Amino acid sequence: MYDISGLVWGHTVADHWIENHKRDSWRRQAKSSGYRARSAFKLLQIQEKFKLIRDNDVVLDVGCHPGGWAQVAVELVGDDGVVIGVDLEPCQPVEGAILLVGDITESVTQDRVLSELDGRDINTIVSDISPDITGNWDIDQAVAMTLVADVLDFSLDLLCKGGSFTTKIFQGVGIEELITAIKPYFSDVRRFSPMASRNSSSEVYLVCRNYMPWVKRDVTIRSTYETLLDVKLNPEETDTDQQVYTSFKLRRKK
Ligand SMILES: C[S@@+](CC[C@H](N)C(=O)[O-])C[C@H]1O[C@@H](n2cnc3c(N)ncnc32)[C@H](O)[C@@H]1O
Repeated sequence: MYDISGLVWGHTVADHWIENHKRDSWRRQAKSSGYRARSAFKLLQIQEKFKLIRDNDVVLDVGCHPGGWAQVAVELVGDDGVVIGVDLEPCQPVEGAILLVGDITESVTQDRVLSELDGRDINTIVSDISPDITGNWDIDQAVAMTLVADVLDFSLDLLCKGGSFTTKIFQGVGIEELITAIKPYFSDVRRFSPMASRNSSSEVYLVCRNYMPWVKRDVTIRSTYETLLDVKLNPEETDTDQQVYTSFKLRRKK
């Protein structure tokens, strides 16, 4: 599995040396603290800033392999909390977490998440999901963005009032449109780059807090996102019959 956040052009050898040095330092720290992956520190730093995960919470960890975030989440929710992780790759067990193998965008996996939830609402969704890269930057960015939208379209209805959704996204085409599509449903949406994210990486975390379930969702987040992106990329085609984004939904201009 590759992480597209590592692929950045136009950097000097010195930049790469510094990056690698930092990455190795987080890796060493992860090893000495018992975490499976340096990414654990990213969640710890997100938590330090936003206090997203609380005692007794129900947490969904999307893209959980090898289990670093699940380890952190289990510590934060305590004995009476619930942590459900999902990944394409099987993880070594994490005590206190339920780790499922499957594609989060497929209904068979979604049904298993629902079954593990057993009617409980989720308090906090954390997603560190990274799709496989093709090497074509535009395609990789498009796939990564639509994957985030699909995760939201599945999980938003499961989130409790006031709950939070945090996801990795990549700086590039579509990021503003994706944020615009998500914003109506949370009272606070902001970007955050934890120190443990590599310096030159394009990855950033979108932290969406205080879910407002009463905001009606007429269309999926993915379809809102794709329409907004289409308007941006093909402005000449939308001049006469322009779609305008209002605070809550897309409307055709009369
Ligand atoms: C950067 S890793 C996550 C690291 C994890 N947060 C940790 O701390 O151990 C990203 C993961 O997203 C997973 N992933 C990518 N697409 C997925 C999908 N459609 N469904 C589930 N997991 C997916 C990959 O298999 C990969 O393991």
